[in-house]
Amino acid sequence: MSTIDYSEKIPNNVDLANDRTLQRALEHWQPRFLEWWKELGPNDFANSQVYLRTAVGVDAQGWAHYGTVKMPDYRWGIFLADPIADRTIGFGDSFGQRVWQQVPGEFRSQFRRLIVTQGDTEPASVEQQHRLGHTCPSLYDLRNLFQINVEEGRHLWAMVYILHAYFGRDGREEAEELLARHSGDVDKPRILGTFNEPIEDWLSFFCFCYFTDRDGKFQLKSLAESSFDPLARTCRFMLTEEAHHMFVGETGLGRIVRRTLEVMKEVGSDNPEAIRRQGAVDLPLLQRYLNYWFSSSLDLFGSEVSSNAATTFANGIKGRPDETTQYQDHVCADSSFEIEVPDGKGGVMKDTSPMRNAMNEVLRDAYIRDCEIGLKRWNMQIKRAGYNFELKLPSNRFRRAIGAWANIPTDLEGRLIGREEYDRRMPGWLPSASDRGYVKSLMQRVVEPGKMAAWIAPPERGVNNLPLDYAYVQLN
Ligand SMILES: [Fe+2]
Ligand SMILES: [Fe+2]
Repeated sequence: MSTIDYSEKIPNNVDLANDRTLQRALEHWQPRFLEWWKELGPNDFANSQVYLRTAVGVDAQGWAHYGTVKMPDYRWGIFLADPIADRTIGFGDSFGQRVWQQVPGEFRSQFRRLIVTQGDTEPASVEQQHRLGHTCPSLYDLRNLFQINVEEGRHLWAMVYILHAYFGRDGREEAEELLARHSGDVDKPRILGTFNEPIEDWLSFFCFCYFTDRDGKFQLKSLAESSFDPLARTCRFMLTEEAHHMFVGETGLGRIVRRTLEVMKEVGSDNPEAIRRQGAVDLPLLQRYLNYWFSSSLDLFGSEVSSNAATTFANGIKGRPDETTQYQDHVCADSSFEIEVPDGKGGVMKDTSPMRNAMNEVLRDAYIRDCEIGLKRWNMQIKRAGYNFELKLPSNRFRRAIGAWANIPTDLEGRLIGREEYDRRMPGWLPSASDRGYVKSLMQRVVEPGKMAAWIAPPERGVNNLPLDYAYVQLN
């Protein structure tokens, strides 16, 4: 197992000390990263002491160290999962051949585009959540937000390392651009639409972690299968950190449900007005937030049928999540995939696409199944509390902006409807201005150790076995 060298300016397990040119290039980028963090990260909390985990190894047991640190002093570094001996290419035209330690010239631009797109989302999310700390529902949650923020910063490092180490001058330029584009910037926005929306309330934050960050998990899982071994190893380690982000999203939403059920019991009603009078989130309101975030996250996977997806699969650049364990046919040269698309006459028809061209859809299907897990759990809570209300994911046709269903009006179940009906019913499907106003009114910060805002239940346990009333963040 490779250990991480913390005596270096940039902690790493890639033997940076023995590559002076690369080390110098990254040390040149490091102060720019810190400037960016100070300007667009959670800068109002720069002097707070935060209980954070830092990676100290890359093996499954004991890879992290927990301790109190000021965020600007966090040790962002470069950590790759250990190499797998004699690893071979797991999919596509070169299936079974040895993996690559360098990027093949002919695939260079495809790799670069994927790495830059992934890299761009990491700092984007930190920028989106820039001011969220001011309205935290508890110190526990504030700490989790900051943990995610520093780790997304580290994920940026992970991608910048690959760019610097394997893409020469182009890579260094791309690394600069990753700090030059900013979420929501009119002139230089982030690459993907969803990452340009500010996240101003914690209900949105938990939805973002649950739905949008989960897209990140699936992209990383498919890049972790890549034939370009350093990229695969980078992504494998990123997934270790990513698990916590999924946890924050799922437990955050689960705790909101739990609190709402308590209030429903207290007031003996499921009437949204009555729930809101107690300062909790009524379930129909939560459903509208789920509708919004799920539908916008689905677009991140791209079009159902895509020649780009076919090429990246064929070339061994990007596989499917869990390629080795989940699939029998890793070449997919002759298989096909059936999808339902609008027939242009107000109906739906079946369309068959070569499997390789449908890889975005294969990924999206796996993602949807993963999204359903949390809903099952929350619905169980609701059922056990004796209410017959069910949270549901909308159809994958609903409110799409990309692919076969882009701009096709459907209801939540995916039934085609007229444009007029769609516009009329939309306020019942997505958070309205008054919903957002109400959620905003709930966002009052709670920073007494162990205390929770009225709209969210406490978590089942503290961080790293510490008690719930531990001062996870010491403000100033
Ligand atoms: Fe990330
Ligand atoms: Fe993440």
